Amino acid sequence: MALLLCLGLSLLASVQSSAVKNCHHGCHCEVENFGLFNSFSLTRVDCRELGPDTSMPIPIPLDTAHLDLSSNAMGPLSDTMLAGPGYTTLVSLDLSSNLITKVTPNALSKLRYLETLDLSHNNLESLSPSCFSGLPLVEIDLSHNSFQEFDMDVFATKVNGEPVSVDLSHNKLVSVSTTLHGRVLHIQSLNLSSNRLLRVPRLAGLSLRYLNLDGNPIAGIKEGAFAQLKDLVYLSISGLHELQEIEPYSFRGLQSLQVLDLSNNPQLKALSPAVFTGLDSLQELILSGSGVASLPSNMLTHLPSVKSITLGQSIHCWRTQKQGQFHRQLGQVQHNEVLNCNVEGIVS
Ligand SMILES: *[C@@H]1O[C@H](CO)[C@@H](O)[C@H](O)[C@H]1NC(C)=O
Repeated sequence: MALLLCLGLSLLASVQSSAVKNCHHGCHCEVENFGLFNSFSLTRVDCRELGPDTSMPIPIPLDTAHLDLSSNAMGPLSDTMLAGPGYTTLVSLDLSSNLITKVTPNALSKLRYLETLDLSHNNLESLSPSCFSGLPLVEIDLSHNSFQEFDMDVFATKVNGEPVSVDLSHNKLVSVSTTLHGRVLHIQSLNLSSNRLLRVPRLAGLSLRYLNLDGNPIAGIKEGAFAQLKDLVYLSISGLHELQEIEPYSFRGLQSLQVLDLSNNPQLKALSPAVFTGLDSLQELILSGSGVASLPSNMLTHLPSVKSITLGQSIHCWRTQKQGQFHRQLGQVQHNEVLNCNVEGIVS
């Protein structure tokens, strides 16, 4: 029985690479077979740094799932550059470090199965509305670009070829589900780190689980800035040299958030406890390298799930049971728990 199980597992896990026909010279193509009797395969194509005078689209094998086109100085993305045979089946596409300044409205429209898109390290200032329309995108990396604003209209659906604008003002939540037709419900990870954003972009209603806003020149975060991001699990707002103020109730609505990274924000000196209102699931708060030097003693009432808080250079605080209390069964658990730090005088 055990032998049979072992045999079965090794068959399932076997990954084999074999040579690929029709691999463009300069690219490296690999077929990975997997599954029982190698019944599944996917093709991975690496066309990084092909050098000058490479004409696009680069021919790729018909069943390519993963394509790396990074570092090819592609420049502005036109409607035809990603429209060759083989591109329709792509699940992931790496376009990082390509001097991309523009993406035409239909440049990505053939990529009907694309889930992961890396556009990091380019020169994008904006994207046209609906440019991700119809793509089942789960993860998009826009870090290291030049966005001063980010408009979630990029995810809006086109109707008769025309973008439908997304109006989320006045809480018209009905229009999210109707005009976006559930498209945005795919997007789980958005990386906007190292751009020129001056404020937190409005992303209300997206199904994000991961959001990174590190290294942007955001000076203040306003009340309700993250409203309606109820699925967000991980939020990183680190290395913002201009960030001075986070208003109370800024994080309200982030009911699923587990990790909040506010590290390396040196100008952030004080945080009122009301800043943390609504973070009912938060387990880890990272304030290391920020200007925050102490924590209010009622921190645990505002962060009922928190397990660990770090601040300063190497200060670590964690939730502990007060010693000498034996009344857990009387429902006093909350009151028996305190924040304990490896340095004295942090909790005041
Ligand atoms: C977001 O981008 C930054 C900078 O490029 C990178 O360090 C980080 O790993 C990215 N996060 C994800 C989830 O891709």
